[in-house]
Amino acid sequence: MKRPEIKNSTILVTGGAGFIGSHLVDALQNAGAKQVIIIDNMFLGNEDNIALALKQGAIFYRDDAEFKTSLDYIFNNHKIDIVFNCATKALNYSFLNPANAFTTNVLVIENLLELQRAKKFQTLCHFSTSEVYGTAVYEPMDEKHPIHPTTTYAAGKAAADLMLKSYVRMFALDAFIVRPFNNYGPRQNHKGFLAGVIPITLHRIFSGLSPEIHGTGQQSRDFILVTDTVKAILDVYPLLAPAESVNISTDGQIKIEDLIMQLVKLSGYTGEILRKPARGSDVLCHIASNEKLKKMVSYNPTSFEKGILITYEWYKKYLTKQD
Ligand SMILES: NC(=O)c1ccc[n+]([C@@H]2O[C@H](COP(=O)([O-])OP(=O)(O)OC[C@H]3O[C@@H](n4cnc5c(N)ncnc54)[C@H](O)[C@@H]3O)[C@@H](O)[C@H]2O)c1
Repeated sequence: MKRPEIKNSTILVTGGAGFIGSHLVDALQNAGAKQVIIIDNMFLGNEDNIALALKQGAIFYRDDAEFKTSLDYIFNNHKIDIVFNCATKALNYSFLNPANAFTTNVLVIENLLELQRAKKFQTLCHFSTSEVYGTAVYEPMDEKHPIHPTTTYAAGKAAADLMLKSYVRMFALDAFIVRPFNNYGPRQNHKGFLAGVIPITLHRIFSGLSPEIHGTGQQSRDFILVTDTVKAILDVYPLLAPAESVNISTDGQIKIEDLIMQLVKLSGYTGEILRKPARGSDVLCHIASNEKLKKMVSYNPTSFEKGILITYEWYKKYLTKQD
């Protein structure tokens, strides 16, 4: 069966009030989706992230995609063509509640695959994570890299990937996997233990607190601007075969210490920088291969220098007008 085009389709985004999900919602609307529907239990979602999308006609269900009955209600009320599955509980949560972080990642995909098997919708684009690879066995890590999760969050994600592949093999579903590396940019949660390194550092600086470096700061990540991720995903959407996966990353590596120093410089902060113990199970580096993506689509990710400036300006405006 032919995969439905984004244009004129009715699309459900799970976790659509979150960081990547909300940018995806905007991009789907801009690409001419007939109707975008969001389900988010607001575990980490934020209504500010979807304010514009709601004005432009998106429908929001504040509900939990782990409950089959919540999804049934939505599917009974809308004729959905495509689902993008972004719902998850942030990686750091797995250090607080390892079992729940695992089961969220498994239950949501299980519900969606069962709905797809019952022909309630046609195409499923599932968000995996580079975390499923664990510490590199070889670098750069391509899509054939062994799956070796080091957290229950990543284990749940890896289980979800396997579940999707098995459903495709057993029931010929149109479902595939996109695997982003570390995203950054506007709208990433800045509050508390679950915050990402860029928002928490800026939040601390704008609140008059000292930025913190966990561990040596020499750990590095492939940081990709969230809007580049979303564009790449929409570009590969018509091209990926069922059960196939693709890394979404840049070719770059940024050390956490260098990243924090850039934010310090941009903000003009002159105070001290606190050193904190390393987080357990933190992988040292994640060097991604984006060869496959580059072969599939024309791909020009934003430079980190430009992306971090966009991000800094956004948080400066956002964080200095509210808590
Ligand atoms: N941010 C990254 O760097 C990154 C990297 C690789 C992969 N990913 C993947 O991309 C997807 C989106 O991540 P994100 O960074 O936007 O995270 P996020 O936490 O900002 O968004 C996830 C959203 O899911 C919602 N949610 C959680 N449990 C839910 C449930 N049971 N039902 C409905 N909604 C629920 C949360 O409230 C949140 O709004 C995730 O699948 C994540 O694993 C993210």
